[in-house]
Amino acid sequence: MIYLNNAATSWPKPEAVYRTADQYLRCLTGSPGRGTHEAALAAGRALLESRELLADLFGINEPEKIVFTSNATEALNLAIRGLLKPGDHVITSSMEHNSVARPLFALQTQGVEVTIIDCAPVGTLDPAAVERALRPNTRLICLTHASNVTGTILPIEEVGAIARRHKVYFMVDAAQTAGEVPLNVEEAGIDLLAFTGHKGLFGPPGTGGLYLRHPEVVAPLKYGGTGSQSELLTQPEIMPDKFESGTLNSPGIAALGAGVKFILETGLEAIRKHTRELTAILLERLKELPNVTIYGPSDVAMRVPVISLNIKGISPGEASAWLAARYDIVTRSGLHCAPLAHKTIGTLETGTLRLSPGFFNTAEEVEQVIEALRELVREVQKRDS
Ligand code: ALA
Repeated sequence: MIYLNNAATSWPKPEAVYRTADQYLRCLTGSPGRGTHEAALAAGRALLESRELLADLFGINEPEKIVFTSNATEALNLAIRGLLKPGDHVITSSMEHNSVARPLFALQTQGVEVTIIDCAPVGTLDPAAVERALRPNTRLICLTHASNVTGTILPIEEVGAIARRHKVYFMVDAAQTAGEVPLNVEEAGIDLLAFTGHKGLFGPPGTGGLYLRHPEVVAPLKYGGTGSQSELLTQPEIMPDKFESGTLNSPGIAALGAGVKFILETGLEAIRKHTRELTAILLERLKELPNVTIYGPSDVAMRVPVISLNIKGISPGEASAWLAARYDIVTRSGLHCAPLAHKTIGTLETGTLRLSPGFFNTAEEVEQVIEALRELVREVQKRDS
């Protein structure tokens, strides 16, 4: 199998991720903060270590301000619904995933004002347009770091500086960039950082988190047992307990920590260099194929390893199924849960075929995918002639 669907979930994972999940499930199934036996203490230590590793990766000075969630969607919902109130204004972009667009549209029906800044057809955003959209009641600017459809990297540092200047909270959705692109919450002026564990961070599905610079201004999404201040019927204000009610996925979070450790040891630059090379090969060689439209910026430096394309004469779904059936090549087709982004690039009616290589893919695999696509293009041409 050639797996080119890392933008949906990364595969394979580093060996240490498998080992850690296995070890924690087998030997250390304690619930952190729920008991003083060794297993509970070890689970607590694993959470602490994963938090510290993530803080290291994202340049966060206070690891306790990272809370674990089940994915980026939960983190984004927590931040959006916990921060915004009727009468507030929020600015976002037209490249957002439904994990941002749907909570915002739901809040719009309850009196939150939403402005969507139109991005260019390659997915780029003009920071000045964000500044022009500010209103006296703007409370939040919410931006994806990179599109899951075109791979376009958005200018978070510039927008972060605008948010700081105007004293507006700034949230970044790092679902497609955490573990892939250097990300520092101080340099980019990020107040809220949502990330998933199972993509670039190499953790298992069911893991993710949110960094909150100002936890005091966000209401919890969930209320319940935290293993702390149990005499109170009110939710503790201490971090991270305020947002971590219920038993956490400690085996998953420990395995996520192993994924982050792998990234820190390998080096983000080395990871980025390899995936950039694979993306460059794909972009270069795809351009040679007739009847293929590639979306997103042509400059590989402006992308994460995500390429959307269409082949004249065949739907993305049919192309994806053909690649899987004929060559065991795994891709994703359709709208990728991001209709706003597809509208922006002009593919809302058709969707696209998406190729997303990862760190464990090789240049040879990518060449094989090109050859498979070349054959597909030839077959479609023959079929239609
Ligand atoms: N949002 C993920 C994707 O783009 C699941 O495939």
